[in-house]
Amino acid sequence: MLSLSLILCVCRSVKRFGMEVKMNITYNQENRVFKLDTPNSSYLMGIVDKEGFLGHIYYGKRLEEDGVAYLMRTQEAPFVPEVNDRERGSFMDSFPMEYPTHGTGDYRQDCLSVRTKDGYNAVQLTYVSHQIYDGKKKLEGLPATFGEETECKTLEIRMEDPILSLEAVLSYSVFADTDAIAGSVRIINHSQEPVWLTKALSGALNLDEGAYDVITLHGGWARERHIVRRPLEAGMAAVYSRRGESGHQEQPFMALCEKTATQETGAVYGMHFVYSGNHLEAAEKNQFFRVRAVMGIYPEDFSWKLLPEESFQTPEMIRVFSCEGLDGMTRAFHTLYRNHLMRGKWLHRKRPILINNWEATYFDFDEQKLLDIAKQASALGIEMLVMDDGWFGNRSSDNMALGDWQVNEQKLKGGLKKLVDEVNALGMQFGIWFEPEMISPDSDLYRAHPDWAIQIPGRRAGLIRNQYVLDISRPEVADYIYECVAKVLRSANIAYVKWDMNRPLSDLGSAALDADRQGELSHRYTLAVYRMQERLITEFPDLLLENCSSGGARFDPGMLYYSPQIWCSDDTDAIERLAIQEGTALLYPLSCMGAHVSDCPNHTVGRTAPFETRGYVALAGTFGYELDVTRIPEADRNSIPGQVRLYHKYNDLVREGEYYRLASYSENRLYDCWEVVSSDKTEALVTYIQVLNVPNRKSRRICLKGLDPQKRYLVEVESPDGEGDAKTAGCFPQGSVLLGSTLMNAGILMESISGDYVGKLIHLTQVQ
Ligand code: GLA
Repeated sequence: MLSLSLILCVCRSVKRFGMEVKMNITYNQENRVFKLDTPNSSYLMGIVDKEGFLGHIYYGKRLEEDGVAYLMRTQEAPFVPEVNDRERGSFMDSFPMEYPTHGTGDYRQDCLSVRTKDGYNAVQLTYVSHQIYDGKKKLEGLPATFGEETECKTLEIRMEDPILSLEAVLSYSVFADTDAIAGSVRIINHSQEPVWLTKALSGALNLDEGAYDVITLHGGWARERHIVRRPLEAGMAAVYSRRGESGHQEQPFMALCEKTATQETGAVYGMHFVYSGNHLEAAEKNQFFRVRAVMGIYPEDFSWKLLPEESFQTPEMIRVFSCEGLDGMTRAFHTLYRNHLMRGKWLHRKRPILINNWEATYFDFDEQKLLDIAKQASALGIEMLVMDDGWFGNRSSDNMALGDWQVNEQKLKGGLKKLVDEVNALGMQFGIWFEPEMISPDSDLYRAHPDWAIQIPGRRAGLIRNQYVLDISRPEVADYIYECVAKVLRSANIAYVKWDMNRPLSDLGSAALDADRQGELSHRYTLAVYRMQERLITEFPDLLLENCSSGGARFDPGMLYYSPQIWCSDDTDAIERLAIQEGTALLYPLSCMGAHVSDCPNHTVGRTAPFETRGYVALAGTFGYELDVTRIPEADRNSIPGQVRLYHKYNDLVREGEYYRLASYSENRLYDCWEVVSSDKTEALVTYIQVLNVPNRKSRRICLKGLDPQKRYLVEVESPDGEGDAKTAGCFPQGSVLLGSTLMNAGILMESISGDYVGKLIHLTQVQ
């Protein structure tokens, strides 16, 4: 009776705000089961045994009742310790522990390990109490999802290890508008002694026996986030970064999906880490064929000393369940990030079309060269000039001057303000590049403060791109660098900052940390990046911030909390970008993908693709230019106003609409196709890129997605200049009106285009 009234009371609290109960959290006191509901999924945990272990029961399609605790198999041998204490080990090593810990007989991947002052490492957590409330608390010092009291609910479960006097608070938040669960853990030392956390992961995902594939996003410099799918065999499949950044190599993401899951069908479990430093994603199929995946800060190079009553907050881990294949997972992440992670004035606004001078000039520029670019660009409709690397100190190449953030007035004669004012006078905004976290050995800053670089005393730290990493975990270093950046921003009308980070961390040593705290450096470094960026966007709330890291080495949900856009990759080749942007869009909304049109032959791969195609691919992201507009072929230059028109015509749709993957060049090696549908389903834009032409093919059938089956849509091929010339050939039924259901089931035919690397835009508009 008590449990029923408890459930009712929670449901009522949701209905009080006039909402449908799309999400909910209940605790049934009778069977000691927690049930978390998102609109289409349920996540259940239960307390077992007198000792109070917290087990994972179920994660999948939404359930309408909670009586499924039998799934924990505590009735089957081996019994719970309460009835079979002589075989405790078998229980520990097979029970689906919700937050598994180290050293007491669970030999699978675990989440929490310690070192006590006497050198012991075991932890065992059992249930103490819980709390359910509307809304969600902030995670101190960390990026995290958020939501109003009407938008989300949170469950906090207090667990403890009474021997260590260690408390762990497991938090889970569900949202009314997306099938995502945000989780994190706070660990508190209630003992009289310090304790060192040697592993503090953010959570686990327990799945029953089944045939699963693992999906990760793998890459390298200039080829970030390529989708990799492989079977999960017995043993482990893991990806990680221990570079002090999320990295080019592995996105902090892992999905487990049914072997038979496709783009549109089947069960997919996605896990994404809201963090920008070292990370681990590991899935293990154990001796009973069951699966446990864990996610969190990479435990090697990590330890954290907790003094009495101090706490440690893990970063947040997002779990998503989709029974509609990868498409469903993508939609859940996009909705979560757009509504509950990204912030700031620019989030839902059209961003100015920028032109960046990196590939145009590299280090070889002065104010006149920049003004020449700006004049030409503004006449073509480009709205902002971004001055990239090379404007400060004696930075004439990437060998020197990082840390010397004073304007080089030999290059920029008359100073920065004069240049910015002149660019503003052309009707353009001005943006600037920084790499605040770095220091060149050949810099005034290094000569004055050699100990500010991260290094181990007595060992020459390794250079990468001839630079060291600043120890911004030291407040005086972070404050100094922040002031350098802020001073420049205060000195002129600067609308945009590209915040770069061009090398990973190594030789981890901080002059400011005691011996038993050196393992904290990497995490402290990441927290310092967050602090600095929070400070920046607080002092300059109108600033458009774009994060960057040698292209896309820090493209993660953590950075997304601070900047509404992130530079996707240094590879601006339209064809290479297809796989990069497909992988990125698997998790991230198109509105945050930094994408520019660059010159050909492409500076990274030497390919020449039509200017038109380069435009179509960049239009799927933030859109801008990365070229010397005064020197590109005239025909290309003349195409810019048309591309600008396309951007203005479609950016609201691209930025705010629902993204659908229709075909993948990475899979078929011939063509790529994606679609964006407006949230009211009145409009859609299909981008089709024919990478390679093949003989004897007249047309290719593409079935659309996400339309309203009942609505009628006019199908038109958009022209490259955005004038929407209905006579432009390219697809059947060009100019016709068809029902959404027809377009989704029968599809359209894309005409074969002569040549390679060519594309078309198809625009659909609802007609009455
Ligand atoms: C990184 C960025 C580039 C550019 C250079 C400048 O590689 O990804 O876009 O800003 O640094 O040094």
